[in-house]
This record gives sequence, structure tokens and C-alpha cells, in this order.
Amino acid sequence: MPEREKILIAVAWPYASGPRHIGHVAGYGVPSDVFARYQRLRGADVLMVSGTDDHGTPITYGADKEGISPRQFADRYNRVIVEDQLKLGLAYDCFTRTYTQNHYRVTQDLFTQLHDKGYLFIKKQLGAISPSTGRTLPDRFIEGTCPICGYREARGDQCDNCGNQLDPTDLIDPHSRVNGEVPEFRETEHFFFDLPAFGNRLQEWIARQEHWRPNVRAFSRNFVNELKPRAITRDLDWGVPIPLDGWRDRDDKRIYVWFDAVIGYLSASIEWAANRGTPDAWKEWWQEPSVPGYYFMGKDNITFHTVMWPSILLGVGDLNLPYEVVASEFLTMEGKKFSTSRAVVIYVRDFLSRYDPDALRYFLTIAGPETQDTDFTWAEFVRRNNDELVGTWGNLVHRTLVNAHRNFGAVPPAGALSDRDQQVLSAVAAGFETVGDPLGRARFKAAIGEAMRLAALVNQYLGEEQPWHLVKNDPERAGTVLNVALQCVNNLKVMFTPFLPFSMQRLHELLGFDDVLAPMPEVTEVEEPDWGSHLVLGGSYPSEPRWHPQDLTAGHSLRTPVALYKKLDESVIEEELRRMEGAGGD
Ligand code: MF3
Ligand code: ZN
Repeated sequence: MPEREKILIAVAWPYASGPRHIGHVAGYGVPSDVFARYQRLRGADVLMVSGTDDHGTPITYGADKEGISPRQFADRYNRVIVEDQLKLGLAYDCFTRTYTQNHYRVTQDLFTQLHDKGYLFIKKQLGAISPSTGRTLPDRFIEGTCPICGYREARGDQCDNCGNQLDPTDLIDPHSRVNGEVPEFRETEHFFFDLPAFGNRLQEWIARQEHWRPNVRAFSRNFVNELKPRAITRDLDWGVPIPLDGWRDRDDKRIYVWFDAVIGYLSASIEWAANRGTPDAWKEWWQEPSVPGYYFMGKDNITFHTVMWPSILLGVGDLNLPYEVVASEFLTMEGKKFSTSRAVVIYVRDFLSRYDPDALRYFLTIAGPETQDTDFTWAEFVRRNNDELVGTWGNLVHRTLVNAHRNFGAVPPAGALSDRDQQVLSAVAAGFETVGDPLGRARFKAAIGEAMRLAALVNQYLGEEQPWHLVKNDPERAGTVLNVALQCVNNLKVMFTPFLPFSMQRLHELLGFDDVLAPMPEVTEVEEPDWGSHLVLGGSYPSEPRWHPQDLTAGHSLRTPVALYKKLDESVIEEELRRMEGAGGD
């Protein structure tokens, strides 16, 4: 048997600091799942990994606010995020977390290797202390003017205006975002990662990545021109301990969250292999140079994936660099930036308590922030749901199934095919290329738009042929037309599966099949000795190749049709806007 093509899909790790809102899942959650499902349907052997990012200031800050420990706080939101993603059908092979024994071990191992190879060194640095509490003031809670672009609300870790990474001491007029006080800078020792040592190799590597989106490439190129050593430890008590003598037992120094989080891609792959009893299997995705790694993230994460993580990989050696870096833009909400504090937010779980997961997946794919910042509005959600999902695709499925089932109870045989029949059949069959090609290049909007165009084409065909009228006088021709429509629906079913897995599984069953077309993930609990247990969102996903024209044989029996999608009443728009206001939006 020929070796199956392998693909690594590495999805950005969400901070375990709150439930998922639709902005999170629009950027990389849904797109990466669409991509993974497409690749599995092609027959590829996909390994898709991610987890919650349990360290860092979003967690320590949130925990402080609630008066609980970072560990308790991260436990809570790890669980919530796993559930949100389960409900959306995100089919990870291993969605774990960074608070695992395995992740700590792998992170410390890589840190030690880089240290042994001379890529880490200790340097004194000025660290910010809050005068009122005497505690370390985290970088991102310091605000000031960016020394590079002059933006006045730059943060101590990066400038959101020009995207450059900063240190708090770079800021002009630094002050605390929490209470406005001016931080005190005290000398503190930290490990620095010698990024400039990789400068030339990164330059050459990025220059060769002609398939990257232009913004990703340009941004990364500029960044490697000015590489500075980067501190990879922090004055903190929550995070991975520094694995060196004299440091390992200190309770005030930890590895920097960004250093450990990117290592999660590797540690989660190692965990996946161990959990299924094949501890070396991860190597097939990481050490075989021909296996591509596709990384999905928001645009604020680009340089961590095109500079920081590649430097770690180069430093350690014998591990694949990213192949594709798919960075999304941002989603706004009724014209405003998402803000949990101002209640400009729609949580995935609230959304899914009122609407179907595929309705959300459809909207986020066709109208998501793939290449530019995009606004979510309820009016647009309702319109696209009703006109496109229900009106075009749902309508095609429904009238085809109802007419075929009512008049024939099974797939009717096809008589001689007219040119028109042939034409519509071959246009839809070609969809495996015209939809598949953009899908393979992570152009999701184009791909789903093309699938919708094909659905509209078949609707037009049905409108012209009118099989519901033909049944009376020419049942044989009616049967032929419905056979053609059923073949098209059955092929489009496969093409829509990456985007709409829940409804396509239902359609598969209505078409009389009993097997699994769109496998769903499940949650298991993994126990680590002397550590505890954690949740893993995973699954085993059959990857029988189906991404090619299907054959629905005449006589194959059909089940009683039920509608796949729900039309939404216009009143939903007002209702949702009111709900947002009620929740405290401005
Ligand atoms: N937790 C980070 C964020 O939400 C993303 C980390 S992605 C990984 O911005 F590269 F670290 F995995
Ligand atoms: Zn700036």
C-alpha cells in the first residue's frame, strides 16, 4: 500500500482565560478545521494539534481578579474552551494544554538543548515593578509611546500599531494600564535567546517562501532585519521552571509564555503519539522534510511563528520548519472591536444555544476575516443564512430529495442524458478541482463561494427542467432529471463537508448511507503520573479518500427528507442587538 501523504496542522493556542467568542473561532479555529477536514477527505494523514495556553499574564491577571490561583483559573477555562470547540465540531487529533507534565518536560528539554549549544545567555535587565504592590508589573500592562512609530497606546510587549515587539523599557512615558502609576525599573537577571545567530538562515528561508501571503512574508522579512536577543524568562511564579541548576527551584523565575507556547506544537504531537501507544509516531510529521506543516493564527501572532519558533527549531535541529503560515485578520462586531469588558462580544456557547453550528461555520467562512478586517453584523448573518444557506444550498437539497423520495422512494434510474444534463453533471464533478484547489491553498472564501455557485447552477437546472411537472406526463424523464440532481447533490455533499460537517452528515444519512462522512471529535481524560489528569479533545478520523466524483446507483433507497437548515425570522436582528445592549454594550 502506498504511503499516505502526511500533513501537520498546527493551530494557535488560545489563552485559557475565557470562553471562546466568535472572533477567536473566525480567525483560526474554524479555518483550520475546514482545512483538516478537506485534507482528510483527500485521503491525507493529518495530524492537527493545539491546546490551551495556560501561562502568561492573561491567566495570572484573571486569576488575581477572581482571587483564585492561576492553576485553578486555567483549569476552568481549559474545560470551557474544550467544550466550545467540541460544539463547533473542531476535529483536532490532540487539543491538549500547556499545563501538562509532558509539555513541561518537552519545553525544558528544548531549553536545555539550546542552552547546551550556546544559544542562551544570562543578562541583567531592567524589570518593571509596581510601586503600590511591590510586585512585578507584566509587560502587557505597561503602556506608553512606541519608540518606532510614535503610537501612544503601545504596550510593554508589543506595539499594536506597527506590530513591533518591544520591551517595557523601550516605551516613552511608561505607565501602568491598571492604575496609571509609573513603574519602577529594577535590575533582574534573565535568560536571553540569541535570535541574531539565526538571522542569515531566517533571511534565506523567508526569501524562499514564495507561497506565503504577501503580508506575512513582508512583515517577517522586515522583522528579521532587526533581530535582537530576546528575553525568554520572566519574574513570575506561574510557568515552566527553568531546568538548570541554581534556577530550577527558584519560585520567582519562569520561562516566558511565548517560548513555551510555540513548543506546544511539538509537545502536543508527542503527547498524541504517546496517548495512542506509538510513542515515536510524531517523528513522521516532524522529521521527514517532505511533510508540510500548516500553521493557523491571528495576524498579531505572525512573528512568533515565522521568527521565534523557527529559531528554536533551527537551534535544536532535525525538526521541520513551518511550510505555510495562514494568518487571519480581525473580526469586529457591529462596527466595534471585540471587548469582553464592554460586552461587545458573542460567545460561541451562547451563539450555539440559539443557532446551529453549521450556520455559524458558514457565515464565518464566507464572511470571515480571511484577508481583511471584517465586521460581524446580525443583519448580515440573518441575510446570508436565509438567502444562501437556506435559499440556495438548503433549497436545492430539499426539492431534490422531496421530489425523488415522494415519487420514487429511491434514486430513480437515468435514461438517455441530454446535453444540458451532461453539462450540469460535469460542472459539478469539476468542483472537486475548482473547490478543492482554493481549499488546498487555504482560500476558504473562494472555495465555499465556488461550492455555492455550483449549487445555484443545479438550482437553475431544476428550475428549467421542472421535474415536479414532468412526473405526471413523462415520469421517465422526471426520473432522469432527478437522478442528475441527486448525483450533483451527492457530490456537492462531499464538497460542503469541510465547511458544514454536521448538516452534511445528516444529508449523507438522508441519501440512504449509514457510514460516517464527517467524523466528530470527542473528549477524553488523560492521566499523568504524579501530575494529575487533563482533557484531550481528539478523535480518530477515518480518511478513506472521497474527494472525487461519487456514484449514486439507481435503486439506492432514500430516507424521508427533513430540512437541513432553519430560516431565521428578521426579528432575530433586533432581538440580538437588544440582548447586546442589555449585557452592557455601549
Ligand atoms: N495564546 C496566544 C494568543 O492567544 C497564542 C499562542 S499561539 C502559540 O495570542 F504559538 F503559542 F501556540
Ligand atoms: Zn509602533
